[in-house]
Amino acid sequence: MDMKAAVPFFELDDVSKVFNVKRRVERRWLDRMDAAQVRAVNRVSLRIARGETLAIVGESGSGKSTLANVMSRVTPASEGSMRLDGDELTAAAPALLQAFRRRVQMVFQDPSSSLNPRQTVEDIVGLPLRLGGMRSPKERRARVRELLESVQMPADTLLRTPMSLSGGQKQRINIARALALRPELLILDEPTSALDVSVQARILNLLAALKAQYGLTYVIITHDLGVVRAIADRIAVMYLGQVVETGTADEIMRRPRHPYTRALIGAIPVVHESDRVFIPATEVLDGETPSLLDPPVHCAFYSRCAFREDACRTRPAPELVADAHDHAVRCHRNPSDPANRDLSGEKT
Ligand SMILES: Nc1ncnc2c1ncn2[C@@H]1O[C@H](COP(=O)(O)OP(=O)(O)OP(=O)(O)O)[C@@H](O)[C@H]1O
Ligand SMILES: [Mg+2]
Repeated sequence: MDMKAAVPFFELDDVSKVFNVKRRVERRWLDRMDAAQVRAVNRVSLRIARGETLAIVGESGSGKSTLANVMSRVTPASEGSMRLDGDELTAAAPALLQAFRRRVQMVFQDPSSSLNPRQTVEDIVGLPLRLGGMRSPKERRARVRELLESVQMPADTLLRTPMSLSGGQKQRINIARALALRPELLILDEPTSALDVSVQARILNLLAALKAQYGLTYVIITHDLGVVRAIADRIAVMYLGQVVETGTADEIMRRPRHPYTRALIGAIPVVHESDRVFIPATEVLDGETPSLLDPPVHCAFYSRCAFREDACRTRPAPELVADAHDHAVRCHRNPSDPANRDLSGEKT
């Protein structure tokens, strides 16, 4: 048996990102800034198989971009471990990290601000090639042409600057740059959210075509469940830095279990009624999201949960527990969690 086959392609174990921040403390006779910490990513564990598309969803501020930056090593994790093909990355040797940076590429959240408006497309897409050791300008130009073709941009785009390009074209250039060093995993942070709806669909089609052509693995960050439905194999739902539910896209869209996921899915417009479960209107989100500066010790979703019970406030925060189909939920109502047997009963 091939042992590699048993090793997940990309794996995160209990990964956290803690930021040091300043917090304003105001009392009647006092107004000063105190040092504080926020745990923007809180003990996230994920397994990503080669060739799959994992969508990470959640509201603004749930920690999606921070997680993406940690996964692509744009920023180091504060705690936990990450492995690519079984190789530990958190404390890896520089050579291994250099290889990692080639193999894992990131497409950043805002297509406009991630491109220098005064550089030509040739310079932008050619930069990773130059840094990767491709010295000959002629060779680089040929490769940039090839990359432009693969993102379906005309060859004469080469000498243009981002200022003269549309939002969708800029995103194609971002994608071309990310593909320059032939990565295996692409992490895309909200790849379509800044674009018009018709352009969104074309970018999603392009991503699907590139994935098939180059055998890529995708992690797509989005708050748009329509995007998720179009392309995801698996979904991880984040709330306040934690993964609260994860499973196959089909399981999560048809049998969402976490009250937060149910409310998110309930809020998307339905095109085909058979596409998803019916979520009663009583399961809408209300209440306030807790502050990361002062997170609750009980379940983080308590303040907004349509199903909350007193026990959800008195018990320690629930763990993420999977059922036999690898569908994991962080909720006291999760019948798969042995800690909840006394509580769940017939309710779920
Ligand atoms: N460099 C930083 N220093 C301090 N706090 C930060 C930093 N970066 C992010 N945060 C905080 O971490 C939390 C998560 O932010 P993040 O940008 O990851 O959320 P997000 O899910 O990507 O949101 P959005 O959908 O708006 O892009 C937020 O509360 C944010 O204020
Ligand atoms: Mg973000």
